[in-house]
Amino acid sequence: MAIIEVRSLSLSFGHGASASKVLDEVSFEVREGESFGLVGESGSGKTTVLRCLAGQYTHWQGELRIAGQALGRKLERARCKQVQMVFQDPYGSLHPRHTVYTALAEPLRIHGIKEERQRVVAILEKVGLNADFRFRYPHQLSGGQRQRVAIARALILEPSVLLLDEPTSALDVSVQAEILNLLDTLRRRDGLSYLLVAHDLGVVAHLCERMAVMQHGRLLETLSVDELCADQARHPYTRMLMQASRSCGNQPEAQGLAVAAC
Ligand SMILES: Nc1ncnc2c1ncn2[C@@H]1O[C@H](COP(=O)(O)OP(=O)(O)O)[C@@H](O)[C@H]1O
Ligand SMILES: [Mg+2]
Repeated sequence: MAIIEVRSLSLSFGHGASASKVLDEVSFEVREGESFGLVGESGSGKTTVLRCLAGQYTHWQGELRIAGQALGRKLERARCKQVQMVFQDPYGSLHPRHTVYTALAEPLRIHGIKEERQRVVAILEKVGLNADFRFRYPHQLSGGQRQRVAIARALILEPSVLLLDEPTSALDVSVQAEILNLLDTLRRRDGLSYLLVAHDLGVVAHLCERMAVMQHGRLLETLSVDELCADQARHPYTRMLMQASRSCGNQPEAQGLAVAAC
């Protein structure tokens, strides 16, 4: 069954002659329990797709469904429990003067959920941080720890879908693998579904079963990671991305994330 359905999603910014079409009839679906990657060059519209699903943009056209339910223009409270987003830059997504405890307890308060302390401690442990981390401020955390807190905040309402926007691209290469492994473990343990934006095909090959490739607001092709690794991409642009990723994988700093590993 599809947990996310995106049908003919189009979106423009601006009006009249200055309007620019950022998404043009984008269609794909993510199956329940699947991790689905969205790749493409910077500016191709990947983040915009996630923002439409998260309810941050509402002037889109087309059809969006989560777990069979059509998304309306309004952000319903129930959707926050079902879908959460994790951003590239955990510095930007955590308030600098709020402790980890405050950041994690806030969604619980908004949704009237009790047993705050137990839940905060449990979610910290789930993302590999001990309970003492709840007293810290974002500047007292490493990049990897901050992203763990951002993941904990996204998971504290127990959503079934995570929208992950380049969740590791702001991190050092050694820490990237740790966070990718954590995301992989969490998904398998809790039966989550992921829609993961990445510009790095290696990240997608590591974490996803299927993927779609975007360019200039259009979706060029959908394929499985097995097909990608077997060099069966049909679209020349996907093949070009694959080539670029392979040659980048030969550089020492990119080792371990290279698509060649697949
Ligand atoms: N709020 C906005 N207003 C105007 N243009 C925007 C806005 N958000 C994104 N865009 C434009 O939409 C295009 C796609 O952006 P984005 O979805 O962020 O791309 P990606 O995540 O693939 O790098 C870019 O050209 C960007 O400049
Ligand atoms: Mg983006």
